Amino acid sequence: MHKILVTGSGGQLGSDLVIALRRLYGTSHVIESGWREPSHHSNLSTYETLDVTHRPSLDAIIQHHQVDTIYHLAGVLSAKGEQQPDRCWDVNINGLRNVLEAAKTFQLQVFFPSSIAVFGPHTPKFDTTQITIEDPSTMYGITKVTRELLCHYYAHHFGVDVRSLRLPGIISYSAFPGGGTTDFAVEIFHAALASGTYTCFVRPETRLPMMYMPDAIRAILGIMQADASAIKIRSSYNIAAVSFSAAELVAEIQTHLPQFTCRYAPDFRQAIADSWPSVIDDSKARADWGWQHQYDLAAIVKDMLQQLEATRREVCRHA
Ligand code: SER
Repeated sequence: MHKILVTGSGGQLGSDLVIALRRLYGTSHVIESGWREPSHHSNLSTYETLDVTHRPSLDAIIQHHQVDTIYHLAGVLSAKGEQQPDRCWDVNINGLRNVLEAAKTFQLQVFFPSSIAVFGPHTPKFDTTQITIEDPSTMYGITKVTRELLCHYYAHHFGVDVRSLRLPGIISYSAFPGGGTTDFAVEIFHAALASGTYTCFVRPETRLPMMYMPDAIRAILGIMQADASAIKIRSSYNIAAVSFSAAELVAEIQTHLPQFTCRYAPDFRQAIADSWPSVIDDSKARADWGWQHQYDLAAIVKDMLQQLEATRREVCRHA
């Protein structure tokens, strides 16, 4: 049975991935970790405080828990990365390097989430193929390209079983994203239900690739469970579900909440969004290991509103 370490487990992806992994492998087989001290909710036997840039701490946790698999989610996202570029480089690059070195030493399997942020202003915007121009304009994107190259290098030179996906914006109801450019697509739901209005930080026509969290979790588990021979790309796979503009998202929410209004006040994140593709070609992931998404825009919006409503009712009941 696998013994799994999840770095950055308190983040948007980690919060849901840990639940899915525990369901599959059992609670005691999934160790959460993050730079924060454990909260009072943490189960101390399955939570470790970890700064991923500190290799000895990482090695100690791996050895102590006899870890054989790492989901390396710790990282600084695109918008925060522009505000703290040094930290973005340090955490994203040195953190992954430490994980890959540990994987080489202890023969671990690794998952690493890359991003559509590897692409840049000269990348074709539509049907962006697996191999194309990568000229990211953000520090975050620069670290993702470098990290993909590191993954490829460690896989081919040292036989490390590392697997990766270029994730689009992820939409989820259970945890907020932490400082990304696609965060508007999550914030908008909370605002729609709380106040009936939202100020969006990208223009209405901004079209980006997005994915609902259940699809993202299936994609991550799918690539990790696939036979090693099916994984032909060791840098990172293009992966996609839906693409929609901010205005289309607003219109879909309005089919459920007709009074909802959105105004637009683009900020520095507009330029980041403009540098990313609108529609990704993920045919390699579909062909190599059978990727298929389930949620389109209508299904995402319906489920998000239902789930957030249910949470709000629950909170009111306990207030
Ligand atoms: N969701 C991420 C971000 O906006 C993209 O990788 O930074």
